[in-house]
Amino acid sequence: MNPSIVLAAFCLGMALAAPMCDYSLDARWNQWKVKHRKSYGTNEEGWRRAVWEKNMKVIEQHNREYREGKHGFTMAMNAFGDMTNEEFNQKMNGFQRQKHRKGKAFQAPPLSDFPPSMDWRKKGFVTPVKFQGPCGSCWAFSATGALEGQMVWKTGQLVALSEQNLVDCSGPQGNLGCDGGWMESAFQYVLENGGLDAEEFYPYMAADEDCKYKPEYSAANDTGFIDIPEGENSLLSAVATVGPISVAIDASQDSFQFYGEGIYYEPNCSKEKTNHAVLVVGYGHEGVKPDENKYWLVKNSWSTYWGLNGYIKMARDRNNNCGIASYASYPTV
Ligand SMILES: *[C@@H]1O[C@H](CO)[C@@H](O)[C@H](O)[C@H]1NC(C)=O
Ligand SMILES: *[C@@H]1O[C@H](CO)[C@@H](O)[C@H](O)[C@H]1NC(C)=O
Repeated sequence: MNPSIVLAAFCLGMALAAPMCDYSLDARWNQWKVKHRKSYGTNEEGWRRAVWEKNMKVIEQHNREYREGKHGFTMAMNAFGDMTNEEFNQKMNGFQRQKHRKGKAFQAPPLSDFPPSMDWRKKGFVTPVKFQGPCGSCWAFSATGALEGQMVWKTGQLVALSEQNLVDCSGPQGNLGCDGGWMESAFQYVLENGGLDAEEFYPYMAADEDCKYKPEYSAANDTGFIDIPEGENSLLSAVATVGPISVAIDASQDSFQFYGEGIYYEPNCSKEKTNHAVLVVGYGHEGVKPDENKYWLVKNSWSTYWGLNGYIKMARDRNNNCGIASYASYPTV
């Protein structure tokens, strides 16, 4: 039997439970499922397909508008294509907004002639992109990223640190494992615990487990943390002089879920309702002049298959878009 007939029949069978499929997308749906190794139960496939189609149409519409010059970035289908935006925000984000910040305040260095661009990856301060999986542990990835960088100043070595150690063990500092947390509370845990294990010895499981910290595998310490006052000028002086910086952002829009390339600017983003934690590893500009098309270079924890090999360029000096400079911090070592 012709496989497309089987699929067509399957879609019709689902028609009562889910919107009709657009059969012209059958081949692309099948390719997408193979590429991302998706398999569904019989009751699930119909509505997953409908969600995927809806996302596909949003992406194509956005990219048409991009070609008309209405946006500075593209969107792209990716592994999150079968997730609704609500489901995505529930599963993949997990930064809990903090009302009271407890760190020491950042003292901006007197120097104001910062280089027009910076990329800490080129200086050996940034580990490869990681993948948080379906666990709201973004805060742990942001925290290890900042601590990995600061440890390079101290030891001269870049060692990947364990997010699972933070997910399992930093409950007493107020973190909620896969249900969310704060980078500052992670830094506080490392301080109180007297160490944080290396990733190699405490691998990531994308689930809440019992604490298995072993001091003999520790590869980092910190002495506390610094909170950077809200504002992109303070964030710039920190990223220019300190290293990779932990930040919280509003990643709740579907434009973020399906970011492709270019400089991400989302007018619907909130400066206050941040729900995702990431790591600023540099900044730059794409125009001829240093004040044109400025961006923050941001490391995400959604694997290298998302965005620019796991990174995103986020608009810089456009009124703190998506709150990137609202809750920035880093550990002291
Ligand atoms: C962290 O600090 C503790 C206590 O001072 C010390 O025993 C340990 O060796 C340090 N670990 C690292 C990786 O520097
Ligand atoms: C912003 O939000 C409004 C209302 O929710 C919506 O109609 C509009 O399409 C959104 N704009 C973008 C650029 O996503």
